Amino acid sequence: MKPTVAPYPMTRLRRARQSAAIRGLVRETLLSSDDLIWPVFVREGENIEEPVPSMPGVLRRTVDRVAVAAREAYELGVPAICIFPYTPLEQRTEDCAMAWSPDNVANRAIRAIKAAVPEMAVMTDVALDPYNINGHDGFVVDGEIVNDRTVEALVKMAVAQAEAGADIIGPSDMMDGRIGAIRSALEAAGHHNVMILSYAAKYASAFYGPFRDAVGATGALKGDKKTYQMDPANSNEALRLIERDLNEGADMVMIKPGMPYLDIVRRVKDSFGVPTFAYQVSGEYAMIQAAAQNGWIDGEKVMMESLAGFKRAGCDGVLTYFAPAAARLLNG
Ligand code: PBG
Repeated sequence: MKPTVAPYPMTRLRRARQSAAIRGLVRETLLSSDDLIWPVFVREGENIEEPVPSMPGVLRRTVDRVAVAAREAYELGVPAICIFPYTPLEQRTEDCAMAWSPDNVANRAIRAIKAAVPEMAVMTDVALDPYNINGHDGFVVDGEIVNDRTVEALVKMAVAQAEAGADIIGPSDMMDGRIGAIRSALEAAGHHNVMILSYAAKYASAFYGPFRDAVGATGALKGDKKTYQMDPANSNEALRLIERDLNEGADMVMIKPGMPYLDIVRRVKDSFGVPTFAYQVSGEYAMIQAAAQNGWIDGEKVMMESLAGFKRAGCDGVLTYFAPAAARLLNG
């Protein structure tokens, strides 16, 4: 007996792909400029914009220039900006006291942005690595990155950022107990509306290389960050970290890096249903830009496809150096 074969496909899934109109109707996720947080690098001086060689298209800006760039990005539709200070090696110290100085360059940038474009949400990074002589996110005592003493410093740093006008505090240090400690200190200081976006699942990643150039940490960093940042092989541990940070008062959580960790994003979103972000980090950005500059990929298309991937994986938003360029395409 000859098997009966239908003379035509029983289900034609291609029908839903036949035209731009139909594809639009059935599209499952949509990237919007509302989903973007733009990380920027700020340095001392006046009226300077200098390129970061390992991140084509990214600049280190002085405070005055950052304020102008923030306004431009906001006008393109980017709702939030995240500030990272550059500190040259000779200004780094062991006690990292500059980290909680109200007048450090990051806090001055917060004030300048809030003055120039008050509607924009300003996010910070809480970790000692921009100020630490050895490039680590915590104090180093006899070769150990000490936890509890570091948390005390991070609390002072976070409160100084809130005092400067930050809307969202972003602890990226991976010490234990810092979210609860920072939340209590913010409440005690009257900053009950200041949010915490915890870098809860942050991996010990080689994708951070260009960022360390950008903040001046490359020459400083001694050893690696594997005793506090996560092992890239782990997934369940990410859920434990997220749950812990939510219990300690995190309003939003982040997975970092982004593209190689979208499975973690999906698990986190499905498990907790909380505002979930990912950071498309410097190395991810640099790879796309380098390939595009060589004419090996279409940079704009890959940029938009990569950002769509974050949304599809479950992200509510993405930290990306592409934010202004993507917003221009989305809203232009
Ligand atoms: C530091 C910090 C890092 C990044 C953000 N905050 C680097 C690191 O942990 O060494 C990386 C961001 C990027 O690569 O774009 N706490």
